[in-house]
Amino acid sequence: MAELRHAFVTGYPVKHSRSPLIHGFWLDRYKIEGSYRAIEVKPEDFEDFIKGLEKQGLCGGNVTIPHKEAAFKLSAKPDAAAQAIGAANTLWLENGVLHASNSDAYGFAANLDDLVPEWTHAGSALVLGAGGASRAIIHALKMRGITDIHIVNRTHARACELAEHFGVSAQPWHKADDLVGDVDLIINTTSLGMSGHEDDHGESDDFPLSFDKVRPGTIATDIIYVPLQTPFLKKAAKFGLKTADGLGMLLHQAVPGFERWFGIRPQVDEELRALILKDMNEI
Ligand code: ATR
Repeated sequence: MAELRHAFVTGYPVKHSRSPLIHGFWLDRYKIEGSYRAIEVKPEDFEDFIKGLEKQGLCGGNVTIPHKEAAFKLSAKPDAAAQAIGAANTLWLENGVLHASNSDAYGFAANLDDLVPEWTHAGSALVLGAGGASRAIIHALKMRGITDIHIVNRTHARACELAEHFGVSAQPWHKADDLVGDVDLIINTTSLGMSGHEDDHGESDDFPLSFDKVRPGTIATDIIYVPLQTPFLKKAAKFGLKTADGLGMLLHQAVPGFERWFGIRPQVDEELRALILKDMNEI
């Protein structure tokens, strides 16, 4: 009889995570008698939690905000993606040794493969934002052969830091309105438009970017998926851009972890998407 496998998602807070729903759906679908549960861990307790994984009978798990950088640092064997991004969201034990990866870049690319397959012809991109999330996006763009990458950020110094790390270009935020005309792909990684975020005052639905200079065929995507149609995507659609929402990134980033812990590469499909949308009250 196969050994029962137990995995987790940890964050602080973690109660909003939809990962238990995603992995629970796949455990059911593939009739695997393992488990996947949310475990809330405070930053000051994170190291002890990670060091005690084996004792707790856990084979690995997902890590979310604010533990992704700490998870990377605590891992003995971070893979190339985790190293490039400097953060980990997927952990697993192999013979007691902690391995780490970052599947956010994979999830981002796989979502675009599904929704706008023509994105593979893109040669240039504009990345809005320079927080933790944008690191995974820039890594994904580079892995998929996009070389001409511009980062703009409200705090310019953060854009410069990231640009130096990845060998791409940083531009002041006010240049974004011009840059939209030079790129094939525009990605919002800022928290602007995120439901419940401190900058979401519920009054303005306008995203502070002009699409006037955009070229036909340009693709716009947002990594925010609540709401599904963000102010950024709504405005891009109005200007005729092809748009891709961010929900698929969440679903696809879960795939590599599930395969590591439970031995089956799960499918992202409409049934899973509908389950998460229902949970978000979008349908
Ligand atoms: P994380 O590092 O977890 O991704 P974050 O530090 O909150 O999260 O970063 C979110 C991104 O949204 C940052 O690029 C942030 O810009 P700053 O670096 O200038 O803070 C961006 N952001 C948040 N609110 C914004 C706003 N009102 N206008 C423009 N950018 C904003």
